[in-house]
Formats: sequence, structure tokens, C-alpha cells
Amino acid sequence: DWTIENFIDMEVAKIQEKVGNRKVLCALSGGVDSSVVAALIHKAIGDQLTCIFVDHGLLRKNEATDVMKTFADGFHMNIIKIDAQDRFLSKLAGVSDPEQKRKIIGNEFIYVFDDEAAKLKDIDFLAQGTLYTDVIESGTETAQTIKSHHNVGGLPENMQFELIEPLNTLFKDEVRELGIQLGVPEHIVWRQPFPGPGLAIRVLGAVDEEKLAIVRESDAILREEIANAGLERDIWQYFTVLPDIRSVGVMGDARTYDYTIGIRAVTSIDGMTSDWARIPWDVLEKISTRIVNEVEHINRVVYDVTSKPPATIEWE
Ligand code: XMP
Repeated sequence: DWTIENFIDMEVAKIQEKVGNRKVLCALSGGVDSSVVAALIHKAIGDQLTCIFVDHGLLRKNEATDVMKTFADGFHMNIIKIDAQDRFLSKLAGVSDPEQKRKIIGNEFIYVFDDEAAKLKDIDFLAQGTLYTDVIESGTETAQTIKSHHNVGGLPENMQFELIEPLNTLFKDEVRELGIQLGVPEHIVWRQPFPGPGLAIRVLGAVDEEKLAIVRESDAILREEIANAGLERDIWQYFTVLPDIRSVGVMGDARTYDYTIGIRAVTSIDGMTSDWARIPWDVLEKISTRIVNEVEHINRVVYDVTSKPPATIEWE
């Protein structure tokens, strides 16, 4: 009968047989799916797996460090970390349309990944964390972008990978269970969804380093306080956004004219519809106070009380 243990044994054997002594490449994002697929393939073929982790500068606080600590130091995986912040930020400079921002980030990701992959020799396979639900409906995740890209051709001859998608019969809850069995840390296995374009779609309008820092810092405070309140698993997604508006405030004796942070926290089953999370007021108060005190250029905090529909979860 079907158990996670049997699944691991069977998939490890299948991967070993398919790959033989050849090499596999994986785009590791630090999300649940790519982390679990990397852990599974690493269990099967160890050093024959190379992961590419692109830091596009749009990640949350400490995220890049955490991914490297977990997978390079913890699992001893071969990981190439690419610091591509400048590349992404210069392409995004002055661009304020949300779809345009997404397109730029998606394309740049492919370019960065391909540049790096082209330097590697003798790679035959590309591993992807495609889930059963992705097979049914084409998802929006980075992995899907890579997949469609690599399937449409137009790539150099030496970059025709064969796909390995060992999770494509699993649902999300099974992937989490698999991750736990494989030793992937709980905070990754239970990580809230995080969009491929990252913090770039949480800075509304044109993105720059200063605004990204504001979102990153306020988001870190929000996550810390949600964790302190023990609410992590009750809320589907929670994050801060920086609308491009400033308002008047007062600090000490001085009038301020500075930015507002929006807090978005929703409950949901699948992200298709959502309700705003009823975070206790004292928790909200603490978050608000900390953000205004600790994050420069913020003099006001608002809480988003709209469901989806009519609003979306993200603000862009
Ligand atoms: P919305 O904002 O459409 O979001 O209600 C639904 C879910 O999708 C995520 N999301 C994205 N994920 N690339 C992604 O990988 C994107 O461009 C993107 N836009 C939204 C969002 O975080 C939520 O979980």
C-alpha cells in the first residue's frame, strides 16, 4: 500500500535507474516544492545533483542565507548561488506596471539560469518540483516558467534537458509529509506561499533598493510577531506592502511626511478565494508600533480588510 516511506524507496530507485552516472540540474528557490524535489533527488544521487539558487534581490530578510545554510551546510548539496541583485534591479528601474515587472523578472530569471547552466558540463536532466495540481492547471511558479521555456526550444543544443518531475503525482500535503521524512526543516516545509517575483510586487509601482528594504524590514517584523503569537499555521499568507503614497504624521515635535505600510494577512484553502485574517488587535498593535518605530520612512500602518474577490491577495 501507499506510504511516504514506500514512495521514497520507489522514487529513489527510479531516479537512480534513470540517471545512472549522469548529472541533474535543479533550480532551487527555497520554496516547498523545489526544496523537497532537491532533497529527494539528492538522496538518490548525491553529488550528481547540482542546484542553482538565484538571489534576485527580491527575497525576504535572511532568506538567501537560510537556503544556503539549510541545503549547502545541512544537506551538503552542490549549490551554486548566483547574486543577481544588480541585474534584476537595473532591469526593473523605473518600471511601474505590475505585469511588466513580472515579465521582466521572469525573463531575467531564465537568462540568469541559462547563463549559469551553460557553464556546467554534461548535464542531462532538469529536476522540477511540479505537483499533481500543476499538471492539471498550469501554475504561475518559476518552475513552470522554466519548464515552458525549456520546452519551446530556441536554446543551444547542449541545453536540451530531459525533465525529472518526481512529485507530479503528489498533492501539497503529501509533498510536505515527504519533505519532513527527508529531513527538510519544518519552517521550509510549512512555508507560506511566496510569489516568484518576490518583494518586487509588494513595492507598488517602480522598485528601488530603498523601497525594497522598507518592505523587507516591515515583513520581517510582521513574520516575527505572527510567529510569537503562534498564528503561523492559521494564516494562509501574511506580508506587508508599500503603496506609493505618503501621508502626514507627527514624531516628537516634528511633522513627518512619509510612507504607509499595508499589512495583508489572509485565510484561504487554495489562494483562489480568501478572507482577511482576524488577527487579534493586540497583535496588530504590536506589529504596527514596531514597524513605525523600527522601519525608517514609515509613519503609518494600515490593515487590509478586503476579501478575494473583489481584491486579490497581492496588491499587484
Ligand atoms: P492573487 O494576488 O492573484 O494571488 O490573489 C494568489 C496567489 O498567487 C500568488 N501570486 C504569484 N505567484 N508569481 C507567483 O509565483 C506571481 O506573479 C504571483 N502573483 C500572485 C500570491 O502570492 C497568492 O499566493
